[in-house]
Amino acid sequence: MRLTFQKTVDLLNAGHVVAVPTETVYGLAASIGHPQAIENLFTLKGRPKKNPLIVHLAAGDQLERFTKEQPSKQMLLKLIEAFWPGPLTLVLEIIPETLPAIARASLPTAAFRVPEHPLTRELIMQTGPLVMPSANLSGRPSATAPEHVEEDFGLDFPVLDGGKAKRGLESTVIKEREGCWEIIRLGAIEPTAFKPLLGYIPKVATLKAGEAPLCPGQLYRHYSPKAQLVPTLEFAQDLHGAVVGFSDRLYPLGCKLYSLGPSDAPEAVAENLYATLRRLDQENVGQAWLDMRFPNEVQGLWETIAERLLKASQK
Ligand code: TXA
Ligand code: MG
Repeated sequence: MRLTFQKTVDLLNAGHVVAVPTETVYGLAASIGHPQAIENLFTLKGRPKKNPLIVHLAAGDQLERFTKEQPSKQMLLKLIEAFWPGPLTLVLEIIPETLPAIARASLPTAAFRVPEHPLTRELIMQTGPLVMPSANLSGRPSATAPEHVEEDFGLDFPVLDGGKAKRGLESTVIKEREGCWEIIRLGAIEPTAFKPLLGYIPKVATLKAGEAPLCPGQLYRHYSPKAQLVPTLEFAQDLHGAVVGFSDRLYPLGCKLYSLGPSDAPEAVAENLYATLRRLDQENVGQAWLDMRFPNEVQGLWETIAERLLKASQK
């Protein structure tokens, strides 16, 4: 069910769960003022309660009421100025009473971002901060269009239509550890984009022995279509079946291409990624070869795309 903007505001303020657009992927939104709605959101998605949510703000100045004095406040302000609104999520120490425990999996930290999509920010101005995981059933490919939300939650599910998500990949999540910012989830911002500001390229965090997970979401199955994806580096001429691959490559005659876009255009591939995985299920494909011959070094957005595709192929 497609909603008007005003109806979306009214439903969220009354404690309902609604799907809303962002520039990365569609989100399943609930107001932080309605813990019961947040509880319902976990149930609807089938999301483990140990996986905390991102708090979405209308502007950077809404952050102050949640956070403790941060050791590196100057750098934090610079990151906010450079990347918000946009697909950067910051994990910060918070004042626990400011956020329902259910939203943050009872952690002493929480994740925050200011979306770039103007409709989303306008919405948050009317509702106050919203928690939003991606608007897909847990484990499935994320939703980048209203139709994807309806595929997972049914045609009657309330959705605010904001068009296709233009980035197509979730936000990059970063956290400071021992004075250094680390990437705890790869996303729509490339690691090199932080260099001018931080003076270094943040590392993709790896767990030290005995440490609690840095990004709980990384523990769970993700982005998977029903179709089994088989990562492939060689395409023999007699290979046949579905292929998730690139529009500028030739595949054996017996193969049907589900195109991610051109292999020299990572932004376009990112935008198409989840829609392509969902097409496999729409067409009842049981198995698809996955072209993992990424151009040159796997870096920049390709690193995120490769990570998503590899996760999607794990059952
Ligand atoms: O682009 C996005 O980030 C989208 C749109 C809707 O904004 N949202 C999204 O949410 O991808 P979700 O719930 O699918 O992913 C949030 C990730 C999870 O991996 C979660 O574990 C991590 O952020 N996270 C949230 N709070 C955290 C915390 N306090 N510490 C570490 N990781 C946290
Ligand atoms: Mg997700």
